[in-house]
Formats: sequence, structure tokens, C-alpha cells
Amino acid sequence: MAIPQRPRAVVTGGAGGLGRALCLALAERGAKILIADRDLTGAEETAHRVAANGGTAFAINCDVSKPAEVEGLTALADKHLGGCDLLVNNAGVAVSGSVGTIPLSDWEWIMGINLWGVIYGCHAFVPRFKAQGAGHILNVASAAGLLAMPEMAPYNVTKAGVVALSETLSGELRALGIGVTVLCPTFFRTNIMNSSRSATLTAGLDKMVDQRMAGSKVQAADVARIALEGCDDNELYVVPMQDGKWAWRLKRFSPERYYALMPKVMQRLSKRAAKH
Ligand SMILES: NC(=O)c1ccc[n+]([C@@H]2O[C@H](COP(=O)([O-])OP(=O)(O)OC[C@H]3O[C@@H](n4cnc5c(N)ncnc54)[C@H](O)[C@@H]3O)[C@@H](O)[C@H]2O)c1
Repeated sequence: MAIPQRPRAVVTGGAGGLGRALCLALAERGAKILIADRDLTGAEETAHRVAANGGTAFAINCDVSKPAEVEGLTALADKHLGGCDLLVNNAGVAVSGSVGTIPLSDWEWIMGINLWGVIYGCHAFVPRFKAQGAGHILNVASAAGLLAMPEMAPYNVTKAGVVALSETLSGELRALGIGVTVLCPTFFRTNIMNSSRSATLTAGLDKMVDQRMAGSKVQAADVARIALEGCDDNELYVVPMQDGKWAWRLKRFSPERYYALMPKVMQRLSKRAAKH
């Protein structure tokens, strides 16, 4: 279903980056938003900006890796928004490095936020949406969930899980009038690398990621706008950037060739980045 006029939205990870951009894009639609983030100060700053942009927002301290805190968002949405039309599972972190060198504690940390956080959100809100016969879920995955690039295994695994969850939900909910969209961007500039954890990487890889984030023609505000338009059109997959679209096409066309080529491309890009 399309997002209604003046939607009531719950947005996780809205204290900065893409989550803040989504809140501001929703504010332009006159939305009432519950901003759930473990960074309450940042969430409050977003709430002020939402108010200045024509919306209304309430900042809530919430750690999405804690099921009771996510479950509690349903009651808070009832209290502050009078219900919920749109759930945005956006909160996320990054872990990089090669398998075997990444501490298991980092695997567990990212699984708790990027995958379990989204599962908790869907588990809490799907029954509500079914009861009201309407609603839309926007799950923020990543192109990493489609493309599985080297030295990003924990991130890839969580995002592939979010893609699979969204595909499954789409099959379960479409006939009930509930929409599901999974967002799969490639790199754009946010704070995600500041909170990321990484084991030893191929020389230049972190620089390459940094350069691609800064150099992307599509930045957070564009990604947010494209994502909401995808929800309006009830699209299941939203892949906003051209490089992501091309790589995903190649992978679907010839997965073997894609996985033979991908490490070489990554190595070449990392080497080039290391020189600058
Ligand atoms: N930036 C990119 O290049 C990129 C690319 C593809 C996908 N994404 C995805 O976009 C989403 C938003 O990330 P971003 O790039 O804006 O990064 P960001 O670090 O700027 O924002 C992430 C937000 O999530 C919050 N958060 C982290 N852990 C949390 C927890 N346990 N509970 C509640 N909130 C928590 C942070 O406080 C922050 O406000 C993530 O799911 C990320 O994987 C980002």
C-alpha cells in the first residue's frame, strides 16, 4: 500500500544518517514520527528538525537489540501517534574484516542490531498491521545483502537476512493490504564508519569505502526520497544507486562469473585507493 497522507511512522536509528534523512523526508509529508534510537540526544535533534520541516516527532531511547524495548514501541506509537502506518527498521552498524579474524563478539553484536533488531520490529508490528488491515514496512538492508562483497561477511549476512525476511513478509502480507519494501543502497556518506568495528583489512579497502561514501552522487536525502517513493509504489526491492543495480543484474545473470570477478575488482579499487 502507498504511504497515506500525514503518515504515523516509527523510525529506528533516526538520530543521524539515513534515519534522520528519512524523518525529514517524512516531515515534508506532514508525518507524526516516533524516533527510536539508542542516541537520545541525536534523536531529539532530529525531532526538532522534523518540527521545523512541517512534521511532529517524539524521541525515544531504544536499543533495537533488546526485544522488550522494540516491543514497547507499539504502545508508544499508540500513545504518541495514535497508531502506526509505517514502520522503518533502519538502525544499523557495520563490521568488516575477513572470516576467522573477526571476533565472534563482533559477529554477535552486529547480528543483534542489524538482523535481530529488524526481526523484533517486524514481530512487534506485523500483528498490529494485520489487525488494522493496512500498514507498510520499510526494512533498510543494503546492496551488501544482495552482492556479498569480500571482507564484509558479518554485514553481508545480516543484510541478506533482512532481504530474505522482507521477501518472505511480502509473500505473507501483500494479499492482506500490507506493503513491504527492502532498501538496498550502495555506499553514501553517514556516520556508520565511526561506529563500525573492523578486523585487519586488505590495504586500502577502508580508504576505498571512505572515498566511495564521499564521492557518491546519491546521498542520504536522495536515498530517503527514493525509498519513500518505492513505498508509495509498493515496490519490494529499492536499489537506488546505478552501481548497485548493475552489480545485482550481473550477479543474477551469472552468479559464478560475478563471484570470480568481484574479489579482483575489490582488490583493484583498494590498491588504487591506497595510492591516494
Ligand atoms: N551509509 C551507507 O553507505 C549505507 C549503505 C547501505 C545501507 N546502509 C544502512 O543504512 C542504515 C542507517 O545507517 P547509516 O548509514 O545512516 O549510519 P549512521 O551510523 O549514521 O546511523 C545509524 C543509526 O542507528 C543507530 N543505532 C545503532 N545501533 C543501534 C541500536 N542498537 N539501537 C538503536 N539505534 C541504533 C545509531 O545511533 C544511528 O543513529 C543502516 O541499516 C545501514 O546498514 C547504509
